[in-house]
Amino acid sequence: MMSKVCVVGLGYMGLPMAAILARAGYEVVGVDINPRVVESVNCGECPFAETGMPELVREAHASGRLKAVTAPEAAEVFVLSLPTPVDHVSHEADMSFVVAGAQSIAAVLKGGELVVLESTSPIGATRCDVKDVIEALRPELVGKVDYVFCPERAIPGNTLKEMIGNDRLVGGLTPQATARGMALYKSFCTGELLEASTEEAEMVKLVENASRDVQIAFANELSLVCDKLGLDVWNVIRLANHHPRVNILNPGPGVGGHCIAVDPWFIVKQAPELTPLMQAARGVNDNKPHWVVEKVKQAAPSGGKVACLGLAYKPDVDDLRESPSVEAVHVLVKQGYEVYVVEPHLTTWEMPLYGLEDAVKNADVVVTLTGHSAFRNLDRSLLEGKGLVDTVGMYRWFHGFMN
Ligand SMILES: NC(=O)c1ccc[n+]([C@@H]2O[C@H](COP(=O)([O-])OP(=O)(O)OC[C@H]3O[C@@H](n4cnc5c(N)ncnc54)[C@H](O)[C@@H]3O)[C@@H](O)[C@H]2O)c1
Repeated sequence: MMSKVCVVGLGYMGLPMAAILARAGYEVVGVDINPRVVESVNCGECPFAETGMPELVREAHASGRLKAVTAPEAAEVFVLSLPTPVDHVSHEADMSFVVAGAQSIAAVLKGGELVVLESTSPIGATRCDVKDVIEALRPELVGKVDYVFCPERAIPGNTLKEMIGNDRLVGGLTPQATARGMALYKSFCTGELLEASTEEAEMVKLVENASRDVQIAFANELSLVCDKLGLDVWNVIRLANHHPRVNILNPGPGVGGHCIAVDPWFIVKQAPELTPLMQAARGVNDNKPHWVVEKVKQAAPSGGKVACLGLAYKPDVDDLRESPSVEAVHVLVKQGYEVYVVEPHLTTWEMPLYGLEDAVKNADVVVTLTGHSAFRNLDRSLLEGKGLVDTVGMYRWFHGFMN
């Protein structure tokens, strides 16, 4: 019989992991402090939208190998997939969820288990926020439990495919922990499994997102310069990318999603004096929504009606986490503009939502904030006589640039 695995945290990452493990033959107990999540899983339903998840959760539930509970129970393997947000003012990682998760499993450990931390975490978290927390509560377990850090790299929208197919880092605190971690992931991953030290694995996960943040900041900075000089930044980037060793990303209204806009801070906070580039990138990306508002002010200095196209942090999804589009809308409202929000991927939001054409017809200024496909075929005549702040390069023809 396969081992019993307890997955703590049944969110965007934890529930797919739990369901994949159940399909691989493990007996899986999913733990979540949110009773609505537990209830939904125990009805065979996935509480959030994600490709393939409704079918997989239904199948895992029907197989009898996946159940959900609100407190951990004894198992051979524990996987912690808990939130690690950043404090928006201090920019410190909030490790309280991981610490609470470690405390909750400490009560049911017997010795001999493997504990896996999957949450994106500052360097040292597996040792300090998991192992030390457990050992402080259960000193008799010192040296008797294996700990491994194995970061999650999947992207919402394609989580299942990526969770199975992506290469994975496995960083145990001891060679035995790494070997056990390798065996766990080998049972369902088709990607390459890469051994690392625990702290290396923690750092690599952060570096991946910090690298994206810096690259996007470069594109966002270029967009400001090109705007000032009357150049089409998308064409500049397209042409520069013909160079065999240049690959510039696309600008936008900032950086969103709860990884790229958050994870660089974990590195910065651990070496503030050594990270001017990463800090500057954060500044450039965080400032972009405010630049968007300045552009609206130039187009409508004495106020007016503004159509904001898109709230999601990337095209064709409904995910608003850390979205710079939301930030731009909030600032415009605060500045007294009458804002008409268009978000075809949501049915309700904190403000009324409008249809694309109605919002554009009503507006003095149109702001593109998310490059949703649904915005592409806007009737060009509707933009005549209006101001346009096109942060995603959707209506470049408006400024006389070639599409
Ligand atoms: N979502 C992504 O795209 C993504 C990608 C890669 C890595 N990550 C990382 O994975 C980790 C988890 O992210 P997520 O998106 O799945 O988070 P999430 O917010 O979707 O889910 C976390 C779940 O944990 C539950 N929870 C909180 N405290 C708990 C506790 N003490 N015991 C049991 N359950 C508890 C919450 O109720 C929630 O359901 C984070 O560190 C994140 O940075 C996320």
